[in-house]
Amino acid sequence: MKVLVLGSGAREHAIVTALNRDPQVASVVVAPGNAGIAAEVECRALTAPLSDGPAVAALAVEVGADLVVIGPEVPLVAGVADAVREAGILCFGPSAAAARLEGSKAFAKDVMAAAGVPTARSTVCTNTDEVTEALDVYGAPYVVKDDGLAAGKGVVVTDNRMLALAHAAQCLNRAPEGDASPAVVVEEYLDGPEVSLFCITDGVSLLPLAPAQDFKRVGDGDQGPNTGGMGAYSPLEWAPPGLVQEVVDTVARPTIEEMRRRGTPFAGILYVGLALTSAGTRVVEFNARFGDPETQVVLARLGTPLGGLLRAAATGTLDQVGELSWRPEHAVTVVIAAKGYPRGPRKGDVIEGLDAVAELGPDVRVLHAGSTRTGSGQLVVDGGRVLSVVAVGADLEAARELAYRAVDRVRISGSHHRRDIAQAAARGQVVPPSVGSRA
Ligand code: AMP
Ligand code: GLY
Repeated sequence: MKVLVLGSGAREHAIVTALNRDPQVASVVVAPGNAGIAAEVECRALTAPLSDGPAVAALAVEVGADLVVIGPEVPLVAGVADAVREAGILCFGPSAAAARLEGSKAFAKDVMAAAGVPTARSTVCTNTDEVTEALDVYGAPYVVKDDGLAAGKGVVVTDNRMLALAHAAQCLNRAPEGDASPAVVVEEYLDGPEVSLFCITDGVSLLPLAPAQDFKRVGDGDQGPNTGGMGAYSPLEWAPPGLVQEVVDTVARPTIEEMRRRGTPFAGILYVGLALTSAGTRVVEFNARFGDPETQVVLARLGTPLGGLLRAAATGTLDQVGELSWRPEHAVTVVIAAKGYPRGPRKGDVIEGLDAVAELGPDVRVLHAGSTRTGSGQLVVDGGRVLSVVAVGADLEAARELAYRAVDRVRISGSHHRRDIAQAAARGQVVPPSVGSRA
C-alpha cells in the first residue's frame, strides 16, 4: 500500500517512521514534510494550503495513494478528509462534521452533555457580560477557552481575573469565521494530573492506544504560557488500574455513539484529554487527531503495524484487528523549541549536533518539526517546535537519561527546552488525588 501523509511536524515524522516499519506499506509520500522527513521519504510541496481539499485529493490521485493520513487539525476541520474520500481514496481522519469535536469547544461540550460524558461544568459566552458572570460562577482559578482552533494556545488558566477577562475580550473581538460569531467557553478548574488517551475508531469499533502524559506549559515546573506541547512520556505507571477501560466505557464509546446517532460518525483518532481529579475522571478536551508530542512516544512503543491499523479504521474493519501489541520499554520525548517560542519563534538559526546524537545508538531518535534546508543545504530552524528527541529505555529514568543526553548534544542558538519532562513520574511523585474517592 502507498500512503500519503499530510503535515510537517514531529508527529508526522513519527507516523512516517512507524509506517516505514509496516511490511504492508510499500512507500510513503509526505506533503509538505520537513527536512528530517525528507531525508527518509519523498516529500511533495503543496502549492495550495494544506486545508485545500480538492488540491490534496488531486495530489493523492497524482501520487497513486491507496490511503491518505491527515496529521493536523486544520485540514480535518476544513473537510480535507471528505474531499479525499469523494475522490475515491481511503482516508484516515474524520469528516469536517465530525472534526467539529475539536474545531469548536462549545460543540464538544454539547456532545459530551448529550452523551453523559464527565467534563468540567462550563458556560458558552458571546459577550463580556456573560464572561464576567461565568467567572463569578466558577471562581478562581479561572479557565477561559477560545471556542475555535488556536494551536494549543487558546486556553488561559489563571488566578488573575483581569487576565482571564482580557483573554476573553481578545477572543471575542476576533473577526467572525464564516457565519459563526466568536465565542469563548468559561469553565470550572480541574485539578489533578492530566492524561492523553488516543482511541482509534472506524466510527463503530474503537481501540484505545497506550496513555501518555504531555507537558503543555513552556517552562519547568509548569510555569509560563501554554504551548503545543514541550514533551511527553508513555506508559503511565502511576495511572490507576482500569483507567483506560473506564475512559473507553464512560467517554470514548458514548461519544462515538452520540456522533453516529447525529448522522456524523467519527472515524480517526479521538484524542481524549483528561484530568484525574479528586471528584473523578473528567474530560479536559477532545481533539480529532493524533496529539503532538504524545504520538512520538506512543508510536515508539507500538508493535502492531501502523499502516494496517489505520487502513482498518478507514475501511470500517477495526473489529477485525486483534489486540494491539506494545514494546515493554518506556518512551520519553523532549521538544527543543526555537528562541522566542511560543510568543514569536525566531527562524533561521542553524541546527547542529545531530551526528553526535546518532552516535548514541538506535534507542534515541531525532524527529523533526520546524526544520528546513537552505539553498546551500544547511539545516536551519523553520518553526516554533524544532525537534522532538525521542528515547526508549528499560524504565522511565533510563529513557529520560538517554533523551537528555541527546538533547545536550543538539546546538541551536537561543533554543530552549524543559529539563523536567517525566521527572516527577520517574521519581514516583505523580499521584492521582485521593484514589479511594475517585468516581
Ligand atoms: P485544551 O486546549 O482544552 O486542551 O486546554 C489546554 C490546557 O489547558 C489543558 O491541557 C490543561 O492543561 C489546561 N486546561 C484546560 N481546561 C482546563 C480546566 N478546566 N482546568 C484546568 N486546566 C485546564
Ligand atoms: N499535545 C497536545 C495536542 O496535541 O493537542
